[in-house]
Amino acid sequence: MSLVYLNGEYLPIEQARISVLDRGFTFADGVYEIIPVFNGKILRPDEHLIRLANSLSSIAINNPCTSKEWRQIFSNLLADRTDDRNYSIYIQVTRGTGERNHIYDNELVPTVLVMCNPVNERDYSHGVTAITHEDIRWKYCHIKAITLLPGVLLKKLAKDTDGSFEAILIREGLVTEGASSNVFMVSEGQIKTPAKDGSILAGITRDLLVNLLQDNVPCCTEQKITEQELRQADEIWITSSTIGVVPVIMLDGMQVGSGKPGEIWKLANSIYESYKREL
Ligand SMILES: Cc1ncc(COP(=O)(O)O)c(C=O)c1O
Repeated sequence: MSLVYLNGEYLPIEQARISVLDRGFTFADGVYEIIPVFNGKILRPDEHLIRLANSLSSIAINNPCTSKEWRQIFSNLLADRTDDRNYSIYIQVTRGTGERNHIYDNELVPTVLVMCNPVNERDYSHGVTAITHEDIRWKYCHIKAITLLPGVLLKKLAKDTDGSFEAILIREGLVTEGASSNVFMVSEGQIKTPAKDGSILAGITRDLLVNLLQDNVPCCTEQKITEQELRQADEIWITSSTIGVVPVIMLDGMQVGSGKPGEIWKLANSIYESYKREL
């Protein structure tokens, strides 16, 4: 049976218990991180741990572990997974357990959960469909907070609308990101992705792809994307640690470009996949 890490102990998941007064349960007062593991190798652990540290400091929770301690927990959990499947490491840190009061006690001890789950190996290379929706989330989207209700409702709406995989979000006429992904678009051979201005999560896959495309023609620019530009795009891609770089072939029921994964996506995806292979 696979183990999870909870507050210093390694336990079968059925035995892992927290209090109903944990502020993660009562207030969604916490942050999380998801780190992919391909062929037994953790992809970009430092970048994920830096983002976790940033999320924690943004909500005034002391980082409960050093980088070395986090890595030790990951390798202990991975040692328990001996097959050759791909995994994602899920980390959740909440402010801890205390009286249900908006005002928290500074002395609370954070609750730390780390688990390792197999990745859904769906083949996305034929593309997915998406809807657009107003970005109904709060304004601190750079924090990877566990407060995910808007994302949950948006993904369900996308699925119920036309079986779509993602909801691409628009705030004041500008594209922010997907409900659980970052967004890229291609127009007249130019690749663009929204800049990291606090209205999006600084996706590790997004940043990696921007870097990998740096020395490429065309390279990727980080700039505003209007809703109109998105609707007229030749290609749209979404990215995240668990899905990689995925082409969107239909948006709100309309074909994107040719309605097939584009040539520039093929190039970008092959660069990303070969980076992963060479890890
Ligand atoms: C809102 C949001 N944006 C972007 C991403 C992509 O981030 P990453 O590439 O680090 O997985 C995610 C991933 O969960 C997300 O939830």
